[in-house]
Amino acid sequence: MKLRFLTAAAALSALVLAGTAVADPIVIKFSHVVAENTPKGQMANKFRDLIAERLAGKVEVKVFPNSQLFGDNKVLEAMLLGDVQMAAPSLSKFSRYTDSLQLFDLPFLFRDMAAVDRFQQSAAGQKMLSSINKKGLVGLGYLHNGMKQLSASSPLRVPADAKNMKFRIMTSDVLAAQFEAVDATPLKKPFSEVFTLLQTKAIDGQENTWSNIYSKKFFEVQPYITESNHGLLDYMVVTSAEFWMDLPDDLKGEVKKALDEAIAFGNKVAEDKSVADKQKIIDSKRSEVISLSPAERAQWVEVMKPVWKKFEDQIGKDLIDAAYNSNN
Ligand code: SIN
Repeated sequence: MKLRFLTAAAALSALVLAGTAVADPIVIKFSHVVAENTPKGQMANKFRDLIAERLAGKVEVKVFPNSQLFGDNKVLEAMLLGDVQMAAPSLSKFSRYTDSLQLFDLPFLFRDMAAVDRFQQSAAGQKMLSSINKKGLVGLGYLHNGMKQLSASSPLRVPADAKNMKFRIMTSDVLAAQFEAVDATPLKKPFSEVFTLLQTKAIDGQENTWSNIYSKKFFEVQPYITESNHGLLDYMVVTSAEFWMDLPDDLKGEVKKALDEAIAFGNKVAEDKSVADKQKIIDSKRSEVISLSPAERAQWVEVMKPVWKKFEDQIGKDLIDAAYNSNN
């Protein structure tokens, strides 16, 4: 009897010891809506792999691509509830949390990605990462995808060609105003629905980057893509203030370092894909890529640029000027 008691006690203490020695790793669920073979998909996978290499047993990153876990309209709410720890929504999807990020949706604001980088790395650009702090979110860094192009069921060369067409947009009032400026109808819809909306002709067009148009096969159901480079699709990698504050300092430093490296990697993927995915679309011959003449492009700029004025009070004129000056 005494022996049986001692054996049970030994087994119990072995279990307790084992329990303390092998604590469960902290899990970071990273949710996103795009395909894995995109700048954001590649960045998230790189981050997962770097953490696995450097913090095995302490932190684990689980990536959920293609809106598997949360669609873009739900992910930030889910983050505040602790159901997901990281995401990188498009800057156009933060309007419920801050007005200032609407800046990045203004049409024809940035000439190219170098100008975007210059502005984001400036003091004003870095300050915008904390514009969502009051809502319980922490911006950890910007990530690029690229400049947006217009895809449609009929050729778009001048703004009048878009009249009365229905375009899917992200949840942004600036993007709505941009399409209203060309007398088109904007419809705010989740990314996961875009292909079906295009395929069933419930909408006539959409705006997106070469990598999203290619990886989600929009080019297979849109016969025309106008290379307009009229706007920016960029992301903010975010987490909740609660999760970030609870993360022990030594791990936080390592996590941030791995994230910065993954973002640099994702930005390089974005640069490469903006060339390679465009070429794959051209090679497919499924969609005609339309180049605008300077005179045609000037018409789009003239019609869309007044949108800036409409949002000047919400965004701040100083911020708009600072972003515009990054083109020089
Ligand atoms: C994304 O790149 O995360 C999605 C962009 C979109 O909703 O169009």
